[in-house]
Amino acid sequence: MFDKIQEAATYIKNQYGERPDIGLILGSGLGILAEEIDQSIKIPYEEIPHFPVSTVEGHTGQLVLGNLNGKKVIAMQGRFHFYEGYDFQEVTFPVRVMKSLGVDQMIVTNAAGGVNENFQPGDLMIITDHINHMGGNPLIGSNDARLGPRFPDMSEAYSKKLIDLAKETAKKQGISVQEGIYFGNTGPLYETPAEVRMIRKLGGDAVGMSTVPEVVVARHTGIEVMGISCISNLAAGMLDQPLTHEEVIETTQKVRADFLRFVKSLVEAM
Ligand code: 6GU
Repeated sequence: MFDKIQEAATYIKNQYGERPDIGLILGSGLGILAEEIDQSIKIPYEEIPHFPVSTVEGHTGQLVLGNLNGKKVIAMQGRFHFYEGYDFQEVTFPVRVMKSLGVDQMIVTNAAGGVNENFQPGDLMIITDHINHMGGNPLIGSNDARLGPRFPDMSEAYSKKLIDLAKETAKKQGISVQEGIYFGNTGPLYETPAEVRMIRKLGGDAVGMSTVPEVVVARHTGIEVMGISCISNLAAGMLDQPLTHEEVIETTQKVRADFLRFVKSLVEAM
């Protein structure tokens, strides 16, 4: 894997000579942020050696590198999901490549279902921790010490310093935010009402189908993480209506303005 990471990184370096400061992973409906990146270079995933290719609706599938609010960023416009059939190594390959390009801080974003009864669709949530319920993780198998330690510490999966910075930034910008724990399921199905009650009992505030593998690899490789969930809907059984992907995309588009303003001010503050 080490050589594949280098080859992918070299391909990207040949098109973008600068060292990016911050990696951005943009979730369902949130890829629009990449359009705000100035002097950008766009590289479709299928061009990059060893990159998997994205298929799900609402994801375009390219890296966007350039300047955003005074920082050099590398953004994934569209991510890879385990439920699409990629294994955890494939899902997290781009994070390894980001590290190889020099990234040491990352903002990971997603659309998630609200489990906490105090949440509303359209809320933004600073992720303070996660629960991995995906039945596996990307670090299983032999460990290459060049990439990170065998037994990585996860006591600050989401950097305390960056959580504080996010809270401070939200306050300064007058953006109201929630805080909570992201519960990672595989999807593609949404949870049953009984599963949602279980998640709440276990301490989850929001539930989604991504993020956990990327954060695991980011920590393994020494990248500091900030996580932001966009609560696109309430989880099953909390309202008297079924969940649809359309609802997720629709709500995400409604909070877009706040989301964009928040993440841009976070980038600036980091
Ligand atoms: Cl309710 N569940 C999961 N697993 N992912 C989601 C969601 C719910 N809403 C948006 N993404």
